[in-house]
Amino acid sequence: MAELIRFGISIEKELSDKFDRFIKEKNYTNRSEAIRDLIRDTFVKDAWKQNRNVSGAITMVYDHHKRDLLDKIIDIQHDFSRFIISSQHVHLNHHDCLEIVVVKGISREIQKLSDRLKCIKGVKHVSLAMTQAS
Ligand code: NI
Repeated sequence: MAELIRFGISIEKELSDKFDRFIKEKNYTNRSEAIRDLIRDTFVKDAWKQNRNVSGAITMVYDHHKRDLLDKIIDIQHDFSRFIISSQHVHLNHHDCLEIVVVKGISREIQKLSDRLKCIKGVKHVSLAMTQAS
């Protein structure tokens, strides 16, 4: 187990009260858990901003009946194949497919892949979940 250290912080009462309400709403067991999560989240955002090695998942929904759509999606994914770890395809209903693409690499390239998938005609929704540095 990692070594734990304790430190005290001083903040305004109003901010502390707001934070305690936030902790309760999110069901954190204590302040330390919440602060640890916020710190990790800040590091993830910073890694993405600084174009570092990151990992994440692109979730997309599209209508597979749209002309040339599957070819375009496959072409783009092959262009970025070195950043793609795996993908999962689920047939949501008669028209729509859900695809989850697990990605790892330089954040600028991952963002570019997500943006290119987003602007294909027939793609209904794309969301990029950014997670920690790899
Ligand atoms: Ni499908």
